[in-house]
Amino acid sequence: MRVSIQDLKKMKRRGERIAMLTCYDYPTARMFDEAGIPLLLVGDSLGNVILGYETTIPVTLEDIIHHCRAVIRGTTRALVVADLPFLTYQISENQALGNAARLIQEGGAQAVKLEGGAELAATVERIVGAGIPVMGHLGLTPQSFNQMGGFHVQARTTRTIQRIVNDALALEAAGAFSVVLECIPAPVAKLISQSLSIPTIGIGAGPDCDGQVQVIGDLLHLGDGELPRHARPYAEIGALVRNAAIRYAADVTEGAFPGEAESFALPKQVDLADIEIDAAGARVPKRSAID
Ligand code: KIV
Repeated sequence: MRVSIQDLKKMKRRGERIAMLTCYDYPTARMFDEAGIPLLLVGDSLGNVILGYETTIPVTLEDIIHHCRAVIRGTTRALVVADLPFLTYQISENQALGNAARLIQEGGAQAVKLEGGAELAATVERIVGAGIPVMGHLGLTPQSFNQMGGFHVQARTTRTIQRIVNDALALEAAGAFSVVLECIPAPVAKLISQSLSIPTIGIGAGPDCDGQVQVIGDLLHLGDGELPRHARPYAEIGALVRNAAIRYAADVTEGAFPGEAESFALPKQVDLADIEIDAAGARVPKRSAID
């Protein structure tokens, strides 16, 4: 039985912290599900982590559906949330509902996530009204990269703090089951978390959110660049993989791979002396060697 949005709300009431991770493929989904991660996000960060884009803006609904199906195949327990990519929900409420429905029907997700606050309250209400759980996303919203002029910590003035508090309350009132808070000062995240009855999930929002989300590329340190300040690497998989590739290439070059253990022997009754080489140079097995 999968984790439900009601389970997550119960976790908040009981003061149990919620661990969420991004995930984009089948083998990782299996490992995260087996590890008991209750909440997985097929985030549009797959644009950066998997597809090699600079931002999340080029990610399409089809990209998310494709990866979401793999994550669903790899999970039995986690609640899987799929991101609505850039401009797949802002044009109209009908567009947002249609695309959210595709993530649920074609992608197999149990919920969708969108970036934005009070201005999207009616859209959230419409999607939730159709029976699709919605997670909000406030603070640093990467799809607005061009509008924000880069990635910066948000909500640092009285005016912008008031706005993010209003946005969070508006999302809750519209029926969102949870809100991601990205890169905002910890005291602001604490205030929002205390003001909402739905769980907040933080990334770069300090320790007082109801849960935390990390991007898999940071958690496993897949790249070779510097990690964002809010990330903590729990494994050095990038270095491990690079090292494995270097050792493999050296073994192939030196003829050390494959060895006997990785090769297949002939059955005893087969003798390669029975094989004739025809005039054109192709190997033609004698009838007896085939039989
Ligand atoms: O796409 C993503 O990975 C996200 C997280 C940063 C919350 O939206």
